[in-house]
Amino acid sequence: MVRHLVKVSDFSKEECEKVINKSIEIKKNPKKYSSTLDGETLLMLFEKPSLRTRISFETGMQQLGGHAIFYSIKDSPLGKKENISDTAKVASRFVNIIAARVFKRQDIWDLAKYANVPVINMLDDFAHPCQILGDFQTIKEKKNNLENMKLSYFGDAHNNVTYDLMRICAMFGWRMDVACPKAPEYSPEQIIIDEASEISKKTGAEVNIVHDALEAARESDIIYTDSWMSYGIPQEQEEERKKVFMRFQVTSSIMEAAKPDAVFMNCLPAMREYEQTAEIIDGPQSIVFDQAENRLHIQKAIMLFLRDKF
Ligand code: CP
Ligand code: NVA
Repeated sequence: MVRHLVKVSDFSKEECEKVINKSIEIKKNPKKYSSTLDGETLLMLFEKPSLRTRISFETGMQQLGGHAIFYSIKDSPLGKKENISDTAKVASRFVNIIAARVFKRQDIWDLAKYANVPVINMLDDFAHPCQILGDFQTIKEKKNNLENMKLSYFGDAHNNVTYDLMRICAMFGWRMDVACPKAPEYSPEQIIIDEASEISKKTGAEVNIVHDALEAARESDIIYTDSWMSYGIPQEQEEERKKVFMRFQVTSSIMEAAKPDAVFMNCLPAMREYEQTAEIIDGPQSIVFDQAENRLHIQKAIMLFLRDKF
């Protein structure tokens, strides 16, 4: 059966660990993997911009012996000129993996439904699984294990990255505090809260939505934030969003409230003095560039896993 990666919980906890461990191994010895996807092709469909995801997949595929095609669907959105099902079926005849970055979750679901090759979600409005697996690799490298952590997220929580963090923290039995404004447009959708709580029942995790940033930071091992202006949010909302989210900015007070060895993470792109101060993102607790680098290694591990080359 063809496997896809649409959201992080498409993999079991054990599979996430397997992919993370493989990524750590690939990082140590990249040459060993230089022909593991010999002659294979990855199609990357992009409806939104990208720096890290595009470059890491393209470079990663090349370093595994394969080839990646960048295809911009910015000006001809999926499902307009032909059905997504046709796009998926046609692309499956040419390539070995389809990856897509789209606005609407339904588009990824449709690609996965009709493709005969693995589909990788490179970010939609519901998930960012490749990011989150890379992040958990980074946490494992920094903390030496993935046991019993507290992760605190700050800012815009109506957000793809937040959603997959909620899913994976639930899967790993962690505590996660999501500190965000109360309004529904800035909070996680109910469907995600329900999904995280369903997983947590089995794992003993605790995923809370809270509104006091300092309280959320207490006893935290990982302080995480994401853009206040995710791709596609209209520019005219910027001033309003800055006002709304400023209470959740990651500052030195937030870092001081967390554990002394807490790390600071942001999936990037980041704006200094928006979701975090410059002092924090450029400071000693920040691991954002290790986080970014690991996108390369984890993309390779994800592709190998989905192509059954472990
Ligand atoms: N973190 C991340 O996915 O970055 P890009 O938008 O640059 O790909
Ligand atoms: N939430 C951000 C993540 C960017 C990698 C966005 O969707 O733009």
